[in-house]
Amino acid sequence: MFGFGSKAYLLGLDIGSGSIKMLQLKESTGKLKVERFGMKPLPAEMIVDGSIMDGLGVVTAIKELATEQKLKNKNVALSISGTSVIVKKITLPPMPEEELDKQIKFEAEQYIPFDINDVYLDFHILSQEKQSSVTQGEMEVLLVATKKDKLNDYANAVREAGLTPKVVDVDAFAVENMYCVNYDVSPAELTAIVNIGASVMNINILKGGVSAFTRDIAIGGNRYSERIQQDLGLSLEDAEAAKKGQLPDVNADALHQAVATVDEELATEISRSFDYFRTTSPEDIARIVLCGGCSKIKSLPVKISEHLGIETSVANPFKKLDTSALKKSHEDIERIAPEAAVVVGLALRREGDR
Ligand SMILES: Nc1ncnc2c1ncn2[C@@H]1O[C@H](COP(=O)(O)OP(=O)(O)OP(=O)(O)O)[C@@H](O)[C@H]1O
Ligand SMILES: [Mg+2]
Repeated sequence: MFGFGSKAYLLGLDIGSGSIKMLQLKESTGKLKVERFGMKPLPAEMIVDGSIMDGLGVVTAIKELATEQKLKNKNVALSISGTSVIVKKITLPPMPEEELDKQIKFEAEQYIPFDINDVYLDFHILSQEKQSSVTQGEMEVLLVATKKDKLNDYANAVREAGLTPKVVDVDAFAVENMYCVNYDVSPAELTAIVNIGASVMNINILKGGVSAFTRDIAIGGNRYSERIQQDLGLSLEDAEAAKKGQLPDVNADALHQAVATVDEELATEISRSFDYFRTTSPEDIARIVLCGGCSKIKSLPVKISEHLGIETSVANPFKKLDTSALKKSHEDIERIAPEAAVVVGLALRREGDR
């Protein structure tokens, strides 16, 4: 609180498959200020399925971004997502944190579909007052397991670019941080935050401000581009531009139809995950909040809201942040905001955070 003497904010670094984003926050007279923000697009083949395929390319892009932004802070919060990350809520007999620290490997074994020696484990004991569905004599623990080789690849790319990884987060949780800083989280109602990027969609359902369910699904903006490429007979580059409304002389009806087909596909995926969640929760989801680059597709929130019958809106990750230092127009800030959802959440982390 008050920021005085508190640890400085880490440099947020979101290594997405569509682009790398970097953001530095600063606390000034009680307000959170965005000091720096930069974004660099990546060619489609550099990160595939959450794996870095071209290490040198990623390192170069991070370096270029850091140089452009004239960064002084080298201490980074980064994140990972996709199928190499497992997040599970488990129920255990109550025990002190130090005890769980010793036991977690043994406890985790039954929940993790990988060899336990190939993963890094972390956990978070969900506080007593936030536990709703547990009976007395039990505690709820959020278990996070990430494949060592994937995490090492990301951390090594950051190191090779001359930066120091200090905190590794998960995309779905970074987006939760972003949301909680910018919006009043309803203590009673369930909110689903859905971050849709280029290749992954992260779903995080919040209950009383804590995560009750997360799931990553390998679908995103690339699916739109591929569909447009196929249906309209375009190159992938042109399809990407057409999707963003930047390609003149395109068959508008066919484009509209291709986008609508993928909107439907995404809505169906979200609906499936919600159906699964409903088997574990008596309360239903009150609202959906979208973020990530795909939240810029105008027809998507409408389709999701129609398909699921749940009010759907688009989050603004800069809502409560002072962006004046970026010296950008209001329109430019609005244009970049959706893609900044994860990096804002990462930039809120401080050294020593878990
Ligand atoms: N104006 C727009 N209209 C439609 N789609 C857009 C627009 N702007 C960006 N996108 C799409 O958003 C996606 C990028 O979003 P984002 O930056 O959130 O993803 P990422 O973090 O790089 O990827 P991931 O997290 O999936 O690895 C791309 O598929 C891009 O084409
Ligand atoms: Mg992303």
